[in-house]
Amino acid sequence: MNHEAMTDTIIFARDLTRIYPLGVNEVVGLNQVDLMIAAGEFVVLKGASGSGKSTLLSLVAGLDAATRGQLQVAGRDLLRMTESQKTAFRRDVVGMIFQSFNLLPTLSVQENVCLPALLAGVPLADATRRADRLLDWLGMSARRGHRPAQLSGGEMQRTAIARALISQPPLILADEPTGNLDSKNGDMVIERLRDLNREQGHTVVIATHSDQADPFATRFIHLRDGAIQSDQGPC
Ligand SMILES: Nc1ncnc2c1ncn2[C@@H]1O[C@H](COP(=O)(O)OP(=O)(O)OP(=O)(O)O)[C@@H](O)[C@H]1O
Ligand SMILES: [Mg+2]
Repeated sequence: MNHEAMTDTIIFARDLTRIYPLGVNEVVGLNQVDLMIAAGEFVVLKGASGSGKSTLLSLVAGLDAATRGQLQVAGRDLLRMTESQKTAFRRDVVGMIFQSFNLLPTLSVQENVCLPALLAGVPLADATRRADRLLDWLGMSARRGHRPAQLSGGEMQRTAIARALISQPPLILADEPTGNLDSKNGDMVIERLRDLNREQGHTVVIATHSDQADPFATRFIHLRDGAIQSDQGPC
């Protein structure tokens, strides 16, 4: 591949395929996907349940491995990485936000947010300072010492956003981030993701059934049966 053509491309996939073995059968999660996403885009990924949205995000996040094809994210080849390179990739390149928040229940909000930075070797004082700045930005300062069970859904998701941002990753992947939120909290989460994109230049890819993110999309990608059905900018 031409390296210069890659400089602004943050996600490059070709023939990307994920087949899940299931007993004697197999399920096609993603089928021969070709994709190029430029740094700075705000991509809304749509498609019916089972169409492959989470599969695609998991591959891009380095949480799952493709069966075949090519996948480069931020210039790194996901299919040729060692486990330790993948760990560094997940830590440095990708901030992942899930529908179910995935917070650690025994840690406070602040500790949940600090954890990825601490695991990356950031000194506690620096991690805490960064976490407090992010929590402040997300309107969560007063909840810093709470445990996840003491938060509303919107507060849990804002905590998860702060955690995803603590390592300042260039790429934010959000899998149905508003799925467990009412529309007001959902809008707030989408607005923060929009700010990250517009004001700070993060690339954002959101898989969602809702239309809350549509006004901010630079691009819509529709999946169907694991394949790209359409790929277009906003009308
Ligand atoms: N771990 C797995 N083992 C077997 N099949 C799987 C696995 N994960 C996903 N699949 C299958 O792969 C296909 C794509 O699933 P995926 O979770 O990517 O869909 P989705 O678009 O995210 O759906 P939803 O909108 O419901 O979240 C589905 O047919 C699903 O059943
Ligand atoms: Mg999904």
